[in-house]
Amino acid sequence: TDGPLVLGIETSCDETGIGIVRGHTLLADAVATSVEEHVRFGGVVPEVASRAHLEAMVPTIERACETAGIKLADVDAISVTSGPGLAGALLVGVAAAKSLAWSLGKPIYGVNHLAAHVAVDQLQHGALPEPALAMLVSGGHSSLLKVTDITLGVDPMGATIDDAAGEAFDKVARLLGLGFPGGPVIDRTAQSGNSVAIQFPRGLTAKRDLERHRYDFSFSGLKTAVARWVEAKQRAGEHVDVADVAASFQEAVCDVLVRKALDAAVTEGIEHIVIGGGVASNTRLRAMATERAAAKGITVRVPRPGLCTDNGAMVAALGAEMVARGRTPSLLDLPADSSQP
Ligand code: KG4
Ligand code: ZN
Repeated sequence: TDGPLVLGIETSCDETGIGIVRGHTLLADAVATSVEEHVRFGGVVPEVASRAHLEAMVPTIERACETAGIKLADVDAISVTSGPGLAGALLVGVAAAKSLAWSLGKPIYGVNHLAAHVAVDQLQHGALPEPALAMLVSGGHSSLLKVTDITLGVDPMGATIDDAAGEAFDKVARLLGLGFPGGPVIDRTAQSGNSVAIQFPRGLTAKRDLERHRYDFSFSGLKTAVARWVEAKQRAGEHVDVADVAASFQEAVCDVLVRKALDAAVTEGIEHIVIGGGVASNTRLRAMATERAAAKGITVRVPRPGLCTDNGAMVAALGAEMVARGRTPSLLDLPADSSQP
């Protein structure tokens, strides 16, 4: 196949990702994670993540080149996540990308992490439909974005005002005693539950909230509602059907996500929705989005789970698109910008 050969570097959080693509074809996707080093701290420690990126960088690049069967000198360009993310973590990736670009004499492209999450879908389903409405749902983000030209970035339409969707899955799983990460286990547990057994609240869908927060999300009230419901049952000495709670909670999250994504797409006259991030693996979310969108003549694209979580392939995919569309490369003084939108 043809298209530019691009190596992408992702270090915005705790995954050191190196991806290599040729156009829309994925050649290698090597990921080293420091997730275990953070477990005893109960969250990602920026300094620990930065050091882990530093240690993993060269071996992960070597592994990716080996898998792709290429030499570094073969690449047409280097792309790297320049933000948003943890400042120190981003800095390691950006410094590595600059070193490679400078020593190889190849152009460098700094890309936005969220735009890369959307662009990755090209590796599975081919050219991205534009305009598209993107919904990014993970442990870190829950956003609705409008995409007119992916190489120019994404326009935020809405986001969570408290917990991210994945965070809600993780917290509810913990309070149900299901373990971590919560998403996959709630997904599995919910399969044998009744999703209409309990009517949990749908955050920011009341009329008075829609004026200011039409495309925003709120999941912390839902989490509290689940906790209260379980406590009340236990206090009354009644049995808690964990599968029913999981299914009803999952239904509430998916219902709000899908409703708002469809509202945004229909309002903006957009016919395609792309879903990404760890929560995009959720079976109920995939089914509900596809079904309700079809009823409105809207298509839904969701990449396979391995491409939804943070990785280097998504950065390479967006870099290749930058090259293909003739975008001007970044300069070698490209900054890591942790608070980039
Ligand atoms: O994208 P990701 O791997 O990492 C970041 O947060 O950046 O997303 C992880 C999140 C976790 O909160 C996890 O519980 C959630 O994605 N998740 C799921 C599923 N698989 C992973 N949530 C719901 N259903 C799933 N099947
Ligand atoms: Zn991400």
